Amino acid sequence: MKGLVLSGGKGTRLRPLTYTGAKQLVPVANKPVLFYALEDLVEAGVTEIGIVISPETGEQVKQAAGDGSRFGARFTYLLQAQPLGIAHAIKIAQPFIGADPFILFLGDNFIRGGIVPQVNAFRGQAMDAQIILYEMQDPSSMGVAILNDQGRVQRVVEKPKQFISPYAVIGIYMFSPLVFEAVHAIQPSARGELEITDTIQYLVDKGLNVRAHRLTDAWVDTGRIGDMLEANRLVLDVMSGKNDGSVENSVLEGRVILEQGARVVNSKIRGPAIIGKGTLIENAFVGPYTAIHHDCVVRNCEIEHSIVLDNSRLEDLRARVADSLIGRNAQINHTAGPSQTIRLMLGDFSQVGL
Ligand code: DAU
Repeated sequence: MKGLVLSGGKGTRLRPLTYTGAKQLVPVANKPVLFYALEDLVEAGVTEIGIVISPETGEQVKQAAGDGSRFGARFTYLLQAQPLGIAHAIKIAQPFIGADPFILFLGDNFIRGGIVPQVNAFRGQAMDAQIILYEMQDPSSMGVAILNDQGRVQRVVEKPKQFISPYAVIGIYMFSPLVFEAVHAIQPSARGELEITDTIQYLVDKGLNVRAHRLTDAWVDTGRIGDMLEANRLVLDVMSGKNDGSVENSVLEGRVILEQGARVVNSKIRGPAIIGKGTLIENAFVGPYTAIHHDCVVRNCEIEHSIVLDNSRLEDLRARVADSLIGRNAQINHTAGPSQTIRLMLGDFSQVGL
């Protein structure tokens, strides 16, 4: 069985971060979200993995993930020249997949608890495809499945405008090579993409054995800031505290991870929280569910329930930073001047809550 991980696409919902970086590399608890998918596959015994990349962010993804040896796997990079849809990515991966069954894992999907049970079920039973369903109040931003009375998949619709079923189809799919017939047969949707939902519908319409596994554990599509923070909470909730840094005149409460060379001076950190390599926390408060990546400075300010990417500086802030996602090399500080004035230099599509 092979793995196919999608790390291309546009990432429009995480702008401005995705103007300069791949959305699949945005860190969850200081580790790219993509790495959780790769680790889940390896844990399920899938080590021959194709990674679909785009011309814009492909090099970054390659640099970050490497040849796979670090994960105990072998990675093959597959360039998708344009983001023409998830089913299009399957199409271009056909020479890599060959005649093997495979797991398709969207690189921005995060599943707590991994995929071992689902992969075992797929391996053990003669199925043509397996999809995983997650019950939601409002699944309208996802693919949605309607089941019949026997719990079999009847219909799959991409982002339905009206409520048709509570079952979102999550971005982890298992296919036999029969799926290639489907991706060659379907036509682009109104948004110009070859849709994964149309692919599954094709298999259902052919009367093939498409099974649905209902997920009870947590799953997050990390497309938006709130979802990134949720995935961050899920991971930090189960991490144990660890101190590979230094602590001076400070209080660490609960589970706090200090990565190598992290320094905490005159500060209080209330876990769960993670402070990256070489980051300095000084005269500051870092509250629960915060992940600060490597080589940052957080000085004279308070921050909680936030993700800060590498090389950023937060200094002398009067308001507590909360519920925030701050990109690489960002600088936020207090400037002297009239008290009602703020000075900003923000990228396109930035969001500021004052
Ligand atoms: O997260 C689950 C949902 O993922 C499913 O419920 C939907 O049926 C499915 O269409 C997909 O919806 P999204 O709108 O979230 O897909 P997105 O465009 O964000 O792409 C998902 C991942 O696949 C993302 O990591 C980018 C990558 N991708 C996407 C496209 C369209 C590619 O690598 N190439 C592509 O052409």
